[in-house]
Amino acid sequence: MNVTNTIRQLRSWSAVNKGPRRVFVPTMGALHQGHAALIHAAREIAGQSGNVIVSIFVNPTQFGPNEDFEKYPRTLVEDLAICRDHGADMIFAPKVDEIYPPDRSVQITETSLSKALCGATRPGHFEGVVTVVTKLFNLVQADDAVFGKKDYQQLAIITRLVRDLDFNVTLHGIDTVREDDGLAMSSRNRYLSAEERAQAPALRAALVSAREAWKKGESDPDALEKLIADHIKAHAPLGRIDYISAVDASNLQAISATTQLVVVAVAVFFGKARLIDNIELK
Ligand code: PAF
Repeated sequence: MNVTNTIRQLRSWSAVNKGPRRVFVPTMGALHQGHAALIHAAREIAGQSGNVIVSIFVNPTQFGPNEDFEKYPRTLVEDLAICRDHGADMIFAPKVDEIYPPDRSVQITETSLSKALCGATRPGHFEGVVTVVTKLFNLVQADDAVFGKKDYQQLAIITRLVRDLDFNVTLHGIDTVREDDGLAMSSRNRYLSAEERAQAPALRAALVSAREAWKKGESDPDALEKLIADHIKAHAPLGRIDYISAVDASNLQAISATTQLVVVAVAVFFGKARLIDNIELK
């Protein structure tokens, strides 16, 4: 496995490692079993003669001024071990000034899907995500890229990015990996106190109960959202609900007569940890 923090070395490596398929896994590090599943999936897509590139970059432009950029866990040594164990070929782990010139003046903005859900309470977040993903796509020049479905809105927005800006990359959404009690794996779970950690699985349980209600015929988004809120309030009193939203999965807008798939997404603060999760209603 190769590791670099420079664009120049990434490009030199890419010039001589032209396997039949190059698969990219963008991450911010602090890797866990959810990321391991992404790298594993990338390896399967690439095949033994293809190449898997993982980026590890805590992207400052996707953090708001009062968010956890400075405190975001940075665990490069452990991250490299996970990458190696799951078959990555190249790790690109640049410093901030390698990615962003100090006088940068161009950014990418998605103007529709990013208004809802996390975008409504994290202004500027998706500009940062879409801009860095654009830059990483340009640098890595992959045939395929792998993203987790836990960040459902992110994947939907990047799908639009690829379509609208004609990136020649195939996206793969990978199912959320969960702890035994249902909590979605997240780099931010390590912020939880023991008490918060004990209550956090209520997010998943609430979403599952909404899916049960949906299967029994409840289709009113307000009723589904209330059911989830009531569950979280009852089982996770330390949680502070940021949003609960049942939307059309294709555009993240209000459910309409043309909606084919509904997704319910939630964000809940436990102390300084903001946890997200979602469920598709089928
Ligand atoms: O999902 C993440 O870890 C980040 O948002 C991403 C896609 C690596 C961009 O910084």
